[in-house]
Amino acid sequence: MLCSKRTFGYMPDGTAVEQYALDNGEIRCAVITYGGALTVLETPDAQGTPVDIALGFDTLEGYLKQDKYMGAIIGRYANRIAGGRFFLHTKEYPLAQNDGKNHLHGGETGFDKRVWQAEEMENGLLLTLFSPHREGGYPGNLHVWVQYLLRGKSLHIKYRAISDEDTIVNLTNHAYFNLGGHSGGGIHDQYLQLYAPYYTPVADAQCIPTGELVPVAHTPMDFMKSTRMGARINEAFEQLLYGAGYDHNWVVDGKAGALRPAAKVYCPSTGIVMEVKTTMPGIQFYTGNHLDGCPPGKGGAAYHKRSAFCLETQFFPNSPNQRGFPQPILRAGGVWEHTTVFSMDVQ
Ligand code: BGC
Repeated sequence: MLCSKRTFGYMPDGTAVEQYALDNGEIRCAVITYGGALTVLETPDAQGTPVDIALGFDTLEGYLKQDKYMGAIIGRYANRIAGGRFFLHTKEYPLAQNDGKNHLHGGETGFDKRVWQAEEMENGLLLTLFSPHREGGYPGNLHVWVQYLLRGKSLHIKYRAISDEDTIVNLTNHAYFNLGGHSGGGIHDQYLQLYAPYYTPVADAQCIPTGELVPVAHTPMDFMKSTRMGARINEAFEQLLYGAGYDHNWVVDGKAGALRPAAKVYCPSTGIVMEVKTTMPGIQFYTGNHLDGCPPGKGGAAYHKRSAFCLETQFFPNSPNQRGFPQPILRAGGVWEHTTVFSMDVQ
């Protein structure tokens, strides 16, 4: 396993941001300490030619300018919290309202905008972050560890957090993928399978779940069988209108806590297949509906609407305010641990 490090850029306050490139001879990836973002994920296509399937930027300025959470680790709470507030043990915690009146992806300065500490490990990289009590409104002094590990043709992302007070945690990675290559254009012709017979419909265009778990059967949300992402995306199905495409959470089949299949994507033009396994209860499938070409991506690529997909493994959106959903609670003295594995292959 080769690991190399270079300075990627400097934050406005002069803090250096490093980029680590990991190569195990089968796949390659790169991660920057700004946001802990995955900037490159390279895997061979059916002809054996390496293809970079992760969107990203060539410079730190690109990452600082964009507001798409490109490749970043999201925390403390990935996805939305309705009204920018939640209750824990009857106490109310106000949070930033950075998505209309709701809280999105940890607020104004979530973990995606922090510079993480990095340390090389045997099979990858360890990133760490300390988030003080009441940072962004969240209770508890929180220590976070995220490992990016390469094993064979798989990228393992392992999350771990501890707190000195009961708190909520929902960490994910916000990589944008295109299995036709990061600059490969639309993802409509890529096939998705979701191991999820239920999803959490949203109430309106604010994308807050109603609280119900609804069967996907006989709707455009049904990806139980591998289906083209674009096959039904423009149908006048209310949920798709609310999300401006797919931007929903599916309930991963099987028991949360166990590593089990969540999704599989296949791209006919490169033959690349990506399988996602996770211990988390849910997965957000988002078709890059708000990508707008700005700023220019790697090699000058223009990342337009629906030119990438995200598969964000997570607790369901707004779970702290939905008692019927699995609760993203970390108790003082406990450990929050989850793993997501992205495995690449060709077909
Ligand atoms: C959300 C989208 C949001 C995007 C921001 C996704 O995780 O579900 O609604 O626009 O992140 O890039």
